[in-house]
Amino acid sequence: MGDSVRSFPHTPEFTGLNTPIGAEYELTELKVEGRLPAEVAGTFFRAIPDPAFAPYIEDGAAVISGDGMVSALRLAPGKVSFAIRYVETERHRAEVRAGRALFGKYRNPFTDTPEAAGLDRTVANTTPVWHAGRLLMTKEDGRPYRVDPHTLATLGRHDFGGRLKSATVTAHVRIDPQTRELFFFGYEADGLGSTKVAYCLADSRGNLTREQWFDAPYCAMMHDFAVTERYALFPIYPTTCDLARLRAGGDHWVHELQRDSWVGVMRRDGSVAELRWFRGPKGVSCYHLMNAFEGADGRIHLDQCLANVNVFPFIQRASGINVAPGDTGARLARWTIELRDGSERVTETTIGPPGDLPVIAAASHGRPYDHGWMLTMNPDMQGPPVSGGPVGAMFNTLLRLDFTGKAPQALALPPGHCLSEPVHVPSSRAGHEGWLLTIVDQQTGESDFVHALWILDAGNVAAGPIAKVPIAHRLRPQVHGWWVSAAELAAVSSPRPQRFEK
Ligand SMILES: [Fe+2]
Repeated sequence: MGDSVRSFPHTPEFTGLNTPIGAEYELTELKVEGRLPAEVAGTFFRAIPDPAFAPYIEDGAAVISGDGMVSALRLAPGKVSFAIRYVETERHRAEVRAGRALFGKYRNPFTDTPEAAGLDRTVANTTPVWHAGRLLMTKEDGRPYRVDPHTLATLGRHDFGGRLKSATVTAHVRIDPQTRELFFFGYEADGLGSTKVAYCLADSRGNLTREQWFDAPYCAMMHDFAVTERYALFPIYPTTCDLARLRAGGDHWVHELQRDSWVGVMRRDGSVAELRWFRGPKGVSCYHLMNAFEGADGRIHLDQCLANVNVFPFIQRASGINVAPGDTGARLARWTIELRDGSERVTETTIGPPGDLPVIAAASHGRPYDHGWMLTMNPDMQGPPVSGGPVGAMFNTLLRLDFTGKAPQALALPPGHCLSEPVHVPSSRAGHEGWLLTIVDQQTGESDFVHALWILDAGNVAAGPIAKVPIAHRLRPQVHGWWVSAAELAAVSSPRPQRFEK
């Protein structure tokens, strides 16, 4: 560990599993323990926040503000490798040149150093998105950066050939499994604290074909959205931004328990002028949707990892709220929307336990589905969970949830273990649910961990891993990941850098 790493504060954001690593490296010829299915051939891309420089300002949101790194776990019969590199954002490059942090608090440019003025603040650390042969590193506060999927070299900022007007792009895009169209949005689309939301569509070749703007009911954190076969759904939860607070050096987000939640609904290929707003419960919060679909009766269902409060401790602190993790009312909730009878409210049904980081097969997106996976805490675990990540506690259990009435399946890890969001790999075998790949961390000392990729039969997660690939290097927690098959990767060559920042 060098001096710069030792100078990080000794706080939960920078210690234990969250200890900054800051190393770009490659590990080849990783050893597989067990049987790697032949059809698990491709690359598991992962987005990892990892601050390159110690902060000069205290920021509760530091965990989600670290420089984006892109990692590739490449799996082929008899050959597995791992590589990780920084996303060379304008911000990262400026800080490397300066040799220190130049940017202040999460999404608050009023806390930056003068040298940061006018520079792109995004750290591209949330989701590696694969569409139309392009790998994009995304974060909802800015535009994506395109990365070479073979070398992980940063190619430049991606603005759809200069067509995109929105200053922001979500890290939770939706791809229609049939048309291969890319649906996405950007909020605070024209600046900090704005209610402007851009709703965009790119065709299967990645060309931006539509961009429409609308006003959200208020400026809210819009982390995820959903698209069904015919509709686009924009949930709004009352975690809100206020420009005056930012100017005073405050936090970007405060959660407002007394404010309504909303879902905006429109035809996905229609005009934003058609948007209808349906009211949800007050004060609720959600980061991730499991899926949305239209029922046979025409009603729309939106399945989400919902809680009665924003679960990020630093957002609760900024809001004067203190709700213990067990008291958040977290549940997998289905909001049903009736378009035809003039109702103006959603109807909620609980369809699963507390949890987050939901995963379904790519082919099920926007369609009726009967099962999905997500992470949760084992209520019977002896001892505390592993500290780390934005909530301060890492998940230790993987669930397979069944919506046809069958019991859930659980893979509960032993004490001292935790896991990150899995990716799903489809199977070519009829009736087979495919495979899940996830990184499992095992704590062996205060800041000591060992890590391994686990490969699970998605239909039989309770049986445990069918293969493990130990990774002999310290890893920082991932945010989201994306699976790209070997065939898709083989179809694209390394692109030349398009437009490198100065
Ligand atoms: Fe997310």
